[in-house]
Amino acid sequence: MTSGTRPRAACLIGWPAAHSRSPLIHHYWLRTLGIEGGYVIEAVPPDEFGDFVFRLSLRGFVGANVTIPHKERALALSKPDARARAVGAANTLWFQDGELCSTNTDVEGFINNLDAGAPGWDKATDALVLGAGGASRAVVFGLIERGIQRVHLANRTMERAGALADQFGARVLPVAWEAIGDLLPRAGLLVNTTSLGMHGQPALELNVGLLPAEAVVADLVYVPLETPLLAASRARGLRTADGLGMLLHQAVRGFELWFGQRPQVTSELRALIEADLTHA
Ligand code: ATR
Repeated sequence: MTSGTRPRAACLIGWPAAHSRSPLIHHYWLRTLGIEGGYVIEAVPPDEFGDFVFRLSLRGFVGANVTIPHKERALALSKPDARARAVGAANTLWFQDGELCSTNTDVEGFINNLDAGAPGWDKATDALVLGAGGASRAVVFGLIERGIQRVHLANRTMERAGALADQFGARVLPVAWEAIGDLLPRAGLLVNTTSLGMHGQPALELNVGLLPAEAVVADLVYVPLETPLLAASRARGLRTADGLGMLLHQAVRGFELWFGQRPQVTSELRALIEADLTHA
């Protein structure tokens, strides 16, 4: 093993090796913190994932991010924390006392982005979350963990919302997609976890005018950076939290675990990634 002589390195494991902003984010932090280290993308097909993870340390890596389609497998092959278990998927791997551990940093990415951009958002007693996929699980778990009293969960396919509510307990209330309009007046926090509003997808049709004046609106979509939902919410004077902020905040913990320093989400970093997204 040569990891003692080589700079520390982490990687992003995916298949296919999708274009990811993670190298840009981690290289920015390595550079600005003056840490000698690396972050590379590793294209690993599903049938080779187990072996790759088994030899992660031998390959010289101190940890990894994991993306589609490996997140469930990563959970099964490591010692997951409560967040990874609740979400049912791991996106960050690291070694602790020689053991491969995992977490899901989407939970804190979502929550820390809200804390940074809309402090006091957690005064809301009722949150309305749209969507019941993987991203929604991280959001719902984060809201419950933070103590939000009622999380109303609307999904086009109602059964998926029901299944998620069954897992997370009585504070999660599944509602029909058609009931969104009725719930908006009491939603102190509205979160879009669906793909609606993303480039190439239909817009999310709802009237933000029905939300309370103190409501906070979060959208996980970050292409475009300002979704029609966020634009309408800002036009109404509501506070917002965007998907790029969550993406940046979810990267913090992995970096800290691998390189030993907790990095900051700065406006300079944000501008760097915004420029990359705009020119993609
Ligand atoms: P992710 O892991 O990003 O959450 P996902 O598991 O594919 O991705 O979930 C996508 C979410 O967007 C789902 O809640 C999906 O609703 P269904 O469960 O009914 O499929 C939602 N979604 C996608 N397209 C939609 C549309 N046109 N209208 C409403 N919801 C939509």
